[in-house]
Amino acid sequence: MHSQVKETIGDVIVDEKEFYFPIRHKTEKSKEIWSKSLKYTPYGVHSNYRALDPYPMYFKSGRGSRITDVDGNSYLDFNMAFGVLSTGHSNPLLINKLKERLENGTILGFEYYNSYKLAKLITSRFRTDKVRFSTTGGEATQAAIRFARSFTGRNKIIKFEGCYHGSHDSLLVSTKPSSEKAGDPKLPNKVLSGTGVVRSVLEDTVVLPFNDVEALVETFRHQGNEIAGVILEPVPMNMGLVIPKKEFLQTLRELTKEYNSVLIYDEVKTGSKHYGGASEYFKIRPDLLTLGKAIGGGIPISAVTGSEEVMKGVGPGKTPHAGTFNSNPLSIDAGIVCMEDILTERNLKQAEKLSSELSKAYRDIIEDDDVPLGVQDWSLSGSIYFTKKQIRNWRDFLSTNVNQWYRYYYMMVDNGVIPAAPGPDEQWTVSVMHTKQDILEHIEAFKDVSKNLKHVSSQLQIEEAL
Ligand SMILES: Cc1ncc(COP(=O)(O)O)c(C=O)c1O
Repeated sequence: MHSQVKETIGDVIVDEKEFYFPIRHKTEKSKEIWSKSLKYTPYGVHSNYRALDPYPMYFKSGRGSRITDVDGNSYLDFNMAFGVLSTGHSNPLLINKLKERLENGTILGFEYYNSYKLAKLITSRFRTDKVRFSTTGGEATQAAIRFARSFTGRNKIIKFEGCYHGSHDSLLVSTKPSSEKAGDPKLPNKVLSGTGVVRSVLEDTVVLPFNDVEALVETFRHQGNEIAGVILEPVPMNMGLVIPKKEFLQTLRELTKEYNSVLIYDEVKTGSKHYGGASEYFKIRPDLLTLGKAIGGGIPISAVTGSEEVMKGVGPGKTPHAGTFNSNPLSIDAGIVCMEDILTERNLKQAEKLSSELSKAYRDIIEDDDVPLGVQDWSLSGSIYFTKKQIRNWRDFLSTNVNQWYRYYYMMVDNGVIPAAPGPDEQWTVSVMHTKQDILEHIEAFKDVSKNLKHVSSQLQIEEAL
């Protein structure tokens, strides 16, 4: 989260970074590495999401539910690599398997004999027919919309304001627009997520408010025959954590069927947070589903999986889909261990239980201390909202008090707990390696922080940080 932080105490304008960054005395090596990195790398980071104010922290190891920074501070981790690690850091089951693989070739340049096993595990868990593997979540969503366009012979893709699907041009529209740029909440403007994103992408993109049934019906009534596909995070996790209305998901399924458009669930985050993902949870089946992050437990792998009907268009001389690292042995073996042994239904249920205990404790403390915050949770994730408003879409999320988030986040970090991925638009992940004791420590840390969040002025705006 990168913003210009300004704060005053009485009449004194304090150095904002001093004020919000209590851990500066413990993170001197991070600061030093940051200044070295700045010489070679914009902002000293290789993903804009990691450009934190006043400087990013640099880490060197992780095990189970803990992570250690370069200064030697150990933290209880609930970021879990933006949800990649619902398996836990360096899960021993995964490590043993990968050691064997490292000694026998990590990429062979031909199809790997085990890929069909992971394909079988994925299609049976997500109740789909066919799958193609790739490396990152962004590649998977890019492929999914191409498959939808190829299948329908149409161009337009509907996406929702505040949903993020990866750093490729096709979907870098209205990911985090300011309210001035976004215009009418019912009929949002299409806003490019930054400079350099090709403008023509706007022509083929329709942006709608999440959870708005009426907007869906109206759009399909007017443009239904032009819509190749609709892509959504079924439980949006790039504006905190938003619970979809059942009626919204149902209407979307019905309309896409009626107009022969392809329904795409981007389950890059949700796919490994509940057994069978959000589609299993809500019992609504999309035509295509994308997976990434945790399916490899820390080894990059992603997938597009879906119905035979749509997937059969993919192939040489038909719909392009290729990648040197697609289905490489390291990723495939990692995926098999994660599916068979780590992200089991039992383990995920246990992590979900711990996550609901965490949500409940947050709610109780917030109520007891009468602080203007809210909590929304689903499966093994939850998000603290720095507003009293219920969050149903991006415009609700814009009411976030960003100053308050800064104070919360770094006070928690100072107390030894990374409470969630960095940014008020993120959420926590409880992994299968977190314990009840970890949850209790998280709660204790928050008890100490909560009262400091009562009267925090709100000057900062949510900023596009992609
Ligand atoms: C819902 C969703 N889809 C796609 C992506 C892109 O995944 P990757 O960063 O692996 O390209 C992300 C990344 O955070 C995401 O949250």
